[in-house]
Amino acid sequence: MTHSFETLTVDLGKRSYPIHIGGNLLADTKNLLRSHIGDGRIAIITDETVAGLHLQSLLKNLGGGNIKTIIVQPGEGTKSFAVLQDVLDTLLKANFSRDDTLIAFGGGVIGDLTGFVASILKRGCQFIQIPTTLLAQVDSSVGGKTAINTSAGKNLVGSFYQPKCVLIDTDILSTLDPRQMRAGYAEVLKYALINDPEFFDWLEVNANDLLSQDQTALRKAILTACTAKADIVRRDERERGERALLNLGHSFAHALEAKAGYDGTLLHGEAVSAGMLMAFEYAQDLGHCSGQDAQRLRQHLQATGMPTMNDLSASITDDPDALFAFMGRDKKNTRTDMTLILTHGIGGAFIEPCANQTSVLEYLQKACSIRLRAS
Ligand code: GLY
Repeated sequence: MTHSFETLTVDLGKRSYPIHIGGNLLADTKNLLRSHIGDGRIAIITDETVAGLHLQSLLKNLGGGNIKTIIVQPGEGTKSFAVLQDVLDTLLKANFSRDDTLIAFGGGVIGDLTGFVASILKRGCQFIQIPTTLLAQVDSSVGGKTAINTSAGKNLVGSFYQPKCVLIDTDILSTLDPRQMRAGYAEVLKYALINDPEFFDWLEVNANDLLSQDQTALRKAILTACTAKADIVRRDERERGERALLNLGHSFAHALEAKAGYDGTLLHGEAVSAGMLMAFEYAQDLGHCSGQDAQRLRQHLQATGMPTMNDLSASITDDPDALFAFMGRDKKNTRTDMTLILTHGIGGAFIEPCANQTSVLEYLQKACSIRLRAS
């Protein structure tokens, strides 16, 4: 039996690919992926958590056969040169070739690592994304950004390399805990804040249903987010311009994550939640955004249990100079200028290529001292 699903296309000419979105789609993996895999071999790259929960089901639904599985440790530490080398060695020893297919089966870490492996294995083999977290379903599995981290920072070594297909099974999210759901929700909310105020209205009413895994709400939100992302990627695949809008709040978020030390105490989506409100507050200080919109966002975050800076541990928020220094290392910056994504209000994000760095530091000093007083 084939389950009902919807298909979007990321329209990139010869490199276009479908995103299939629906419930229980894992059961239809063989049919949906057949045309992409052909007669080639398959290697599934996944982590221990996802393997324990879902790998047998994926293997069964692919119809068995000689499928290689590579299981890595969960967590950001896996996006490293060491793991990259291990995975490449394993695939090369098994003589994987350009006609073979890698399947990224996991969250953003697995998608980013597998995509990067695919982009360099024998100068490029094909890969498919089967994202298993909300965050990966609405953001990282679509658009072809791949990367590992280095000691100099997050995602600093990588490539733009598009998958052949993205298969989003919304039922697979049932094994995610509420914290992971909220972390993914930050990236859903991001699309509303960038340019879709009607979607924000809808989220104000439906976000808690979505977070409790109401399948109708979840599918509508994932479809809206993936449509928005596919549109932006089609127009600006390599982030020469508007794709940078997808980083709303991320310069602040990356600084919070770097200060937290990538040890799992602060999830990326949690940092994005706090970071988006910081972008709104900073834009309000500059007179770009009304206080009502910043307040509306703050209320929405509170109503959905999403973290703001005041909810983060004091050790992350006690040093504005350190946060400012991390912001100075962001990939979007040029040698001299700091690029920030700011906002005119809900649905009105814009790129500020030359942020006034004194005012950024002043904002961080103010936000950190408010956080200190709140504790
Ligand atoms: N996650 C932001 C982007 O894909 O551009």
